[in-house]
Amino acid sequence: MTRHSIPAVALLLALLALPLSGQRPQATIRIDTNRTIGEVHPYVFGNFAEHLGRCIYGGMFEEGSQLSDADGFRKDVLDAVKPMGVSVLRWPGGNFASGYSWKDGIGPRDLRPARPDHAWGALESNRFGTDEFLRYCERIGAAPYICINAGLGSVDDARQWVEYANEIRPTYWANQRRKNGREKPWNVKIWGLGNEIDGPWQLGHKNAEDYSKFALEAAKAMRRQDGSIQLIASGSSNFRPNADWIGWNRAVLDRLKDEIDYISLHTYIGNPDNDFEKFLGANALDIEYRIQVVEGQIKAAQNGQTTPRPIYIAFDEWNTWYRARTGTTEFEIAKTGLEEHYNFEDALATGMFLNAFIRHADSVKMANLAQLVNVIAPIFTSKQALYLQTIYWPLVEYGKQRNNMSLDLQTTSPTYRIGARPPVGYLDVSGTHSAKDRAIYLNVLNRSEKMDIATRIENVAGQIGAEAAVWEMNNPDLKAMNDFGLEKVRPATRTSTLALANGGFTYTFPKHSLTILRLKVQ
Ligand code: AHR
Repeated sequence: MTRHSIPAVALLLALLALPLSGQRPQATIRIDTNRTIGEVHPYVFGNFAEHLGRCIYGGMFEEGSQLSDADGFRKDVLDAVKPMGVSVLRWPGGNFASGYSWKDGIGPRDLRPARPDHAWGALESNRFGTDEFLRYCERIGAAPYICINAGLGSVDDARQWVEYANEIRPTYWANQRRKNGREKPWNVKIWGLGNEIDGPWQLGHKNAEDYSKFALEAAKAMRRQDGSIQLIASGSSNFRPNADWIGWNRAVLDRLKDEIDYISLHTYIGNPDNDFEKFLGANALDIEYRIQVVEGQIKAAQNGQTTPRPIYIAFDEWNTWYRARTGTTEFEIAKTGLEEHYNFEDALATGMFLNAFIRHADSVKMANLAQLVNVIAPIFTSKQALYLQTIYWPLVEYGKQRNNMSLDLQTTSPTYRIGARPPVGYLDVSGTHSAKDRAIYLNVLNRSEKMDIATRIENVAGQIGAEAAVWEMNNPDLKAMNDFGLEKVRPATRTSTLALANGGFTYTFPKHSLTILRLKVQ
């Protein structure tokens, strides 16, 4: 999991530096603020809202509820969303996008047609549409990201959607927007060229060649409408990276490399074997592998180009999702509402994902947790109330590191094996530096179920201050959950005085915990 291994001499010296407690460090984290990977883009703290289950209707939007405002937005949900600092919000799907007609979702709500949703087998009232979504984004301060219908939709539908949202001149669709109450353009900058079009489950599923042809024409038409937009290609879906997975990205990147700004990547993980260390280890290896493969594929596609267009990874669906996923078809799965009830170990998995994104801050420039409310989500509502799921807390805390520089840390840790896979460190670590705040953040997941790990931490590029702010998630019960009126899992915070010696200190990361240390650089 580390980019560089620490030289043996330095490791020896570190091991000799005993903490006051007398416990020998078993692991090391070496910080050098001059060794940076890239800026942690604010869009890494993005989210996703799909017309699916109770994410929008009954989650974000509940007309007639006493808890909602005049726009129909649930005020308690808005209050819970704000601390997450959602930087970019993806909409309307997901699978839903591939059958969605955006023109059904504008104009007076009572006149909008109800339509069958063939992605999830639901009835779509269309009472929440483009203007509602964009207003919601304004309310929470998120950049909107609209995913076009590259399944059953047409190129011109996509182009007209850009016209509706962004055109300033008095064109037909801009005037429709004005008629619907929005004079100035919404200025939507981020557009997705479809969702999981490689998947046979997708409405309008295509092979890579047909998709690329569609996406190229859509990109051309949408850019002629507004040359300032950014485009995200539909990358390989969530299934295991096999030959098809690799082949789709290769073909799409090859054909779209001069048009796109991002390629999407989706990953859902689970713990079906009820094996904590495997859950957090095997999936970490897998996420790391997927990112590295796509990074390599981007480079391969650009081979020979002297000034390639920068292409980044938009990890625009990620989360733990396996319990509320029963059934073989999308319609069967939809019966669960995808209402995962998250436990403590899932919160640790959230840190694991975010650590991977931070370690790849040079390539992963957007990530969208799937999803915002009720549907595999950190916020869970009933008609009367809401509660914050366990995974909510790491999202809030890691979000404070946006715009920091990701650090290329040198880490050693005891390792373990999962089957025939390569050894995996018990500590999963990322770090960031804010020069402005003179602060270093260390994000440390201890995925050992049984072992606290004493770790020698050193900064080779400056003095560490004597006090650290500690944020920690831990719980003796790995399966502990929150519920309405019952918050069993939440982080603890404290200030810790560090026993500094020889430019470093030793900190013990408790078994099965996620810790963020905020250190001062003097
Ligand atoms: O987020 C739930 C679903 O998972 C999305 O609709 C789809 O893109 C993915 O397969």
